[in-house]
Amino acid sequence: MKLLITGGAGFIGSNFVRYIIQQHPDWEITNLDKLTYAGNLENLKDVEQSLRYRFIKGDIGDRELVDQLLQQKFDAIINFAAESHVDRSILDASPFLETNICGTQVLLEGAKKYGIKRFIQVSTDEVYGSIELGSFTELSPLHPSSPYSASKAAADLLCLAYHKTYGIAVIITRCSNNFGPYQFPEKFIPLAITNAIEDKPIPVYGDGLNVRDWIFVLDHCRALEATLEKGRAGEVYNIGAGNEMTNLALVHTLLKSLDKPESLIQFVTDRPGHDRRYSLDSSKIRTELGWKPIYSFNDALAFTVNWYLSNRHWWQRIKSGDYAKYYEQVYLKR
Ligand code: NAD
Ligand code: TYD
Repeated sequence: MKLLITGGAGFIGSNFVRYIIQQHPDWEITNLDKLTYAGNLENLKDVEQSLRYRFIKGDIGDRELVDQLLQQKFDAIINFAAESHVDRSILDASPFLETNICGTQVLLEGAKKYGIKRFIQVSTDEVYGSIELGSFTELSPLHPSSPYSASKAAADLLCLAYHKTYGIAVIITRCSNNFGPYQFPEKFIPLAITNAIEDKPIPVYGDGLNVRDWIFVLDHCRALEATLEKGRAGEVYNIGAGNEMTNLALVHTLLKSLDKPESLIQFVTDRPGHDRRYSLDSSKIRTELGWKPIYSFNDALAFTVNWYLSNRHWWQRIKSGDYAKYYEQVYLKR
């Protein structure tokens, strides 16, 4: 299979590229990535020598580039490329609309013109918004709360419209919160781990009782692989591992595993529009495609903590660059 991956230099995309290169000795991957602040070629150092992997620096919103690339006859496109952080979308929504909506439309147009047989849109549970009790199914209405989730919801609707109108074989996946190696330290788990390692306060928004359903990134990659091989065009698949917990409970576990004091927890002003709870019913992908998570939450979290302990150069370089300015903007005013 010849795959075009977008956003493959980010967190989930780079884990997916590595996973596919290892699992499928006859598959080829082209990775189109703009290398925004979140894109990092260091994430793929161990695969860049592979003859089955190729990197192209570019924007998914660049029509000419996308048109030129798609002349190379790909079997599938997997669209990971996105602005992905809720707090950044609250500071400035514009890049979220440009990449997440307009960029996706450019890829869909390319898929239409070149008859791409599979288009996987990597979406998120955040498009459903918050739920007090029970879990969202694929038929639940979309109620996004942040500019980030609104832009992802808009892209999902465009994808479904391109399927209905032009017959593009689009499949949408909506996964819950990921964690694992190479996650940019603006997201909660790597931020908490790296701050704790450095004995810095861990900012917990509001009362810390917001609930997220955590999944190890490789289980998400396995679900995407199953979707690529067996998913039905025009369908949406929720992907969740059923590890729901409050942010506070999660921080307690992380501090314990790092042997750090609870006094590092610092309650800060809540995020505007902060969704209280995410919860997914993922029975469709489990029964239809035979996928289920295989990593235990505790083992995967311990593995992730160890990865950050052993790869300080990776996150210290990030945290000492432009990220420091962002951190100041988001946290020092809280
Ligand atoms: P990330 O921010 O770590 O990586 C995004 C990547 O996209 C970066 O490499 C960046 O350089 C690239 N990119 C951004 N704009 C681009 C553009 N215009 N053209 C080409 N490349 C561009 O994000 P992530 O956490 O790896 O998320 C990947 C995808 O998965 C996103 O679509 C996100 O919405 C979705 N998702 C993420 C999670 C999560 O918990 N992280 C959960 C569910 C779904
Ligand atoms: P995040 O990793 O940003 O993912 P998302 O907002 O997409 O779910 O945040 C996970 C949860 O952690 C969310 O409820 C917000 C909270 N949070 C904090 O309490 N402090 C922080 O510094 C960050 C980044 C997040």
